[in-house]
Order: sequence, then C-alpha cells, then structure tokens
Amino acid sequence: MHSCSFFVALLCLMGLSSADPVKFVDCGSTSGKVTIVDITPCPSQPCQLHKGDSYSVNVTFSSTVDSSSSTAVVHGILGGVPIPFSIPVGDGCKSGIQCPIQQQQIYNYQATLPVKTEYPSLKLVVEWELRDDNKNDLFCVKFPVQLV
Ligand SMILES: *[C@@H]1O[C@H](CO)[C@@H](O)[C@H](O)[C@H]1NC(C)=O
Repeated sequence: MHSCSFFVALLCLMGLSSADPVKFVDCGSTSGKVTIVDITPCPSQPCQLHKGDSYSVNVTFSSTVDSSSSTAVVHGILGGVPIPFSIPVGDGCKSGIQCPIQQQQIYNYQATLPVKTEYPSLKLVVEWELRDDNKNDLFCVKFPVQLV
C-alpha cells in the first residue's frame, strides 16, 4: 500500500521535473552538432505555447569550432516567411554557455522564451540559431509550435 503510493508520487515528481525533448529539424548546424532540444513545459507536440507564459529552451550541442562569442538569432516562420523574434538575452555566453567555446566540447544552451499576449493564436515554426564568431551556426534547429 505505502510502497505503491510512494511509487506513484515518485512518478509524478519525475513527470514534473523532467524536461520535454521535442522533435526538431536541423537547419544547418555547420559549426556544431545538436543532440537534444528540450522545451519546458511541453507535454505534447507540437508544443502549445500559452500567451503570457514563459518557456525554457535547453539545446544540447557539441561544437566543432573555437569561438569567443555566441549570438542567438530567433525567427518565427509563418507561411514560409521568417519573422524576427526577440528574446530577452541574445548573448549565448550569458545563456548557460561558458565562453570561449572550445571545439569538441558539449554545451547546454539555456534560454527563456516569453510568449507575448499580443501574439495571434496560430501554428508556426520556430527557427533558433546560435552563431559563432564567423556568423556560422553552432546550431540551427527548427520545431513547430502552436500559440494558444
Ligand atoms: C539541459 O539538458 C541537458 C541534457 O538533457 C541536461 O543535462 C541539463 O541538466 C539541462 N539543463 C537544464 C537547466 O534543464
């Protein structure tokens, strides 16, 4: 009896604390390789992003270059047209990455994605890039979201 409810509580805790890996498409990570893209919370896919809420994005990648800087560039793609999306912190070196970036190292890029209340409710594709010193992509990932 007790061990059973303990097990259920444990499962709940695991469910609450675990990040949700999303299916993504690599859109040309020339200076690195992406292994995992996590969005929290995103219990079902495509991720439903509620207006007024904030989401955390965690991209695990390895770098194939040395780079002293890293700059995030985010677009929302609507009907094939990329629209610039502003994020609070564009500097990757202030988003969980210890710079300078060294080749063959694995990094976790962690950012916050605030969803403004004035956005329309629609489906779009988010394209998230992190550029190195030479403006090449340490990673470029695309994933669909639904604004609700
Ligand atoms: C980001 O994801 C990696 C790999 O899953 C994990 O090791 C790390 O703890 C995560 N960081 C945060 C803040 O969730």
